[in-house]
Amino acid sequence: MAIGIDKLSFYTSEYVLDLVELAQRRGVDPNKYTIGIGQDKQSVIPNYEDVVTMGANAAAKIIDNDDRQQIDLIIFATESGIDNSKSSALYVQKLLNLSEFSRTIEIKQACYAGTFGLMQARDYVASHSGKRVLVIASDIARYGLNTPGEVTQGGGAVAMIVSESPHIATINSDSVYMSRDVADFWRPIDRTEAIVDGHLSTDIYKEMFLTLWQRYKDQSGRTIADFAGFTFHLPYTKMGKKAFDQIIDEADERTQGRLLKNLKASQKFSREVGNLYTGSVYLSLLSLLSYAQDLVAGEQLAIFSYGSGAEAELYSITLQENFFKYVPANETKNELADRKKVSVDQYEQIFNSQLLDSHENVSSDHPDADHFQFLGWQNGERQY
Ligand code: HMG
Repeated sequence: MAIGIDKLSFYTSEYVLDLVELAQRRGVDPNKYTIGIGQDKQSVIPNYEDVVTMGANAAAKIIDNDDRQQIDLIIFATESGIDNSKSSALYVQKLLNLSEFSRTIEIKQACYAGTFGLMQARDYVASHSGKRVLVIASDIARYGLNTPGEVTQGGGAVAMIVSESPHIATINSDSVYMSRDVADFWRPIDRTEAIVDGHLSTDIYKEMFLTLWQRYKDQSGRTIADFAGFTFHLPYTKMGKKAFDQIIDEADERTQGRLLKNLKASQKFSREVGNLYTGSVYLSLLSLLSYAQDLVAGEQLAIFSYGSGAEAELYSITLQENFFKYVPANETKNELADRKKVSVDQYEQIFNSQLLDSHENVSSDHPDADHFQFLGWQNGERQY
């Protein structure tokens, strides 16, 4: 039975920071950020957004009344969740008027959890014919002002509906995966920013990709020429390129040209948004589907998901007939173009006002009837 991604959407905040301006303020050559790291802009997340609002805002774009009846399971992947007990999926169920006769759960393993959610969704649909699963991957990537990781911040959410006979792509049963306890990036429960060994994390990412690629080829008998494109988890866009450069020589010149062009297409949205942890690899997929000119139904894309700590998975999807009609390409491009630019001073002020560990009320001077917002606390409970 064909099961896969039926609908796909993305949401990020309305504010954006120009990284050339950030480089100038930090006394860094802007080329380090735009070429060395491969990031041009970064979403800035105000304190009336959190993983719930961004996840609900992403999902609201794709949920219709049929989904409301058929969604049997809501999987919420995040590593910047808002409660140590209650699942963000429950808030989303209520905000979107989804059926109470559904299972709701939050999952975590750094940036990898979105992919685990997707695989669980596929397996769930396989054993519950006719049901649909909503998968949300939502995060705020924070490293702190004036840190090496600052240029790789960002945030946003991807929502996907997994079903039988999907409109966009089937998820193939060819996954290879691995996990190993590594201290490359983690966030103790009392901290609002991650502890990171950035260079170690880059090395582990590259190593896990290469190891899984070899394993994938051994198990499937496929080669690089079997793919129309590769999409990577993109903490910053150069990371995907570094990983891909390890295998690009396996392709002939023509295939190399196509794959590198499509890698660029897959990086475009991330260049403008930054890292969104769990959702990043699926923003990369959305970017590829939105910008690539040459993709044809029936072709396969390779997806590499990585989460620090560390866990990785490599698998493929097959594009469906008329898939492009179901990809919100122009909508996403327009929304990113319409964001409001903030100065470095404004960004720093917004960053410091996130109140991640506070129970104070958020200022409610920003009413927006079109989007879900975090309004503050009442009796220790978050209000939306
Ligand atoms: P850094 O030490 O500031 O940068 O940290 P660098 O000195 O390594 O330079 C970066 C690149 O810029 C280098 O290129 C330089 O040569 C180049 P490379 O050798 O890597 O190809 N460069 C220049 N290029 C042009 N003009 C110039 C110039 N100067 C230098 N003038 C680092 C960079 C990414 C480590 C840092 O930003 C960081 O720690 N980020 C956070 C961690 C991260 O993103 N890790 C990625 C892998 S781990 C992962 O993906 C998981 C994650 O998403 C979390 C999760 O799973 O939950 C992070």
